[in-house]
Amino acid sequence: MRAVCPGSFDPVTLGHLDVVTRATKVFEEVVVAVGVNRSKSRLFEPEERLDMLREATADLPSVRVEGFTGLLTDFCTAHGVDAIVKGLRSGGDYEYELAMAQMNAHLTGVETVWLPTSPSLSYVSSSLVKEVAALGGDVAALLPGFVHERLLARLAERAG
Ligand code: PNS
Repeated sequence: MRAVCPGSFDPVTLGHLDVVTRATKVFEEVVVAVGVNRSKSRLFEPEERLDMLREATADLPSVRVEGFTGLLTDFCTAHGVDAIVKGLRSGGDYEYELAMAQMNAHLTGVETVWLPTSPSLSYVSSSLVKEVAALGGDVAALLPGFVHERLLARLAERAG
C-alpha cells in the first residue's frame, strides 16, 4: 500500500518526521507531498522545502518526496496513492482535519488515516517554530540540525 503525507513543510520539523517515520511502519511506500500552492506567504521556496525534506528523509528507503500543486486528491489519483496520512496533535487539529478528510473522500473516495503525534512533539508546528525563532527563542530541539541552521540564516536575511 502507498500512502501520502501532505503538507507545506515550511520548514520540516521533528513533528513531521515523527509522522512520516511512523507511516513507513504501516505502509510499504510513503510519498511526502509538498504543497506549493501560492495561498500562504512562505519563508522557504518550494525547491528549498523539497531539498530539506529529501535530506531529512534520506535514511528512510521507502520514502520519496514530491512537490504538488492543485488538489491533493488529483495528486493521489495520479500517483496511485491508497491513503492520505496526517498527524493529529490535538482536538484543534481534529476539527480542521475532519473537514479535509471528508472533503477528500467526497472528491475521489480516497481514505485518510490519522496517526496521533508523539506527546513530546504535540505542541510543535512550523508556524510556531518560525514565530519563536524570529523572536530569539530556542527551537533547536524541534528541528533537524541542518534545518535549524537554515531557519536561523533565513530569518537573519529577512531581518537584515
Ligand atoms: O502543512 P499544512 O499547511 O497544514 O498542509 C495543508 C495541505 C497542503 C495538506 C492542504 O492545504 C492541502 O491538501 N492542500 C492542497 C489543496 C487541496 O487539495 N485543498 C483541498 C483540501 S480538502
